[in-house]
Amino acid sequence: MRKIEISTSAIVFKDLSELSTEDSMLMEQAILAREKAYAPYSKFSVGAALLLENEEIILGNNQENAAYPSGMCAERVAIWRAGSEFPDVKILKLAISAKSSNSLVDKPVGPCGACRQSLSEYEIKQKRPFEILFMGEVGEIVKVSSLNALLPFSFDNSYL
Ligand code: THU
Repeated sequence: MRKIEISTSAIVFKDLSELSTEDSMLMEQAILAREKAYAPYSKFSVGAALLLENEEIILGNNQENAAYPSGMCAERVAIWRAGSEFPDVKILKLAISAKSSNSLVDKPVGPCGACRQSLSEYEIKQKRPFEILFMGEVGEIVKVSSLNALLPFSFDNSYL
């Protein structure tokens, strides 16, 4: 038997004013995308913005459905758009912002488990990590340098 330690690290910024110009610009795009979310059931709107190496910004937001599981998260809408429109262009960073019309979201909202798995596929595909920044509506922003920091022991194609 052996014990292994898995550690992860993140940088926490107090608000948008602490981000670099590029990061805050990308987060502003995620916020704009969030405002166009279709979330009539949960009232929880999420926006995602991907910065690609060719300087394209790809946006996504959550799209809900009356048959609840048929909806889709913002992160997967964005990553699949990038994968379908720019399959050979590397992703540099992803910014995520969430807002609820029920209450103020003042904590950073990380991507759900299914989104982490989907994002992981693209990091492996492009053989280079991309940064992820996430926040609520206001308050702190968490930044990690790789999806790996959010999903240790992930499932990948080496198992297939
Ligand atoms: N949602 C996202 O868009 N991204 C996540 O990572 C977590 C949850 C959406 C799905 C659903 O439309 C709403 O937020 C409430 O779960």
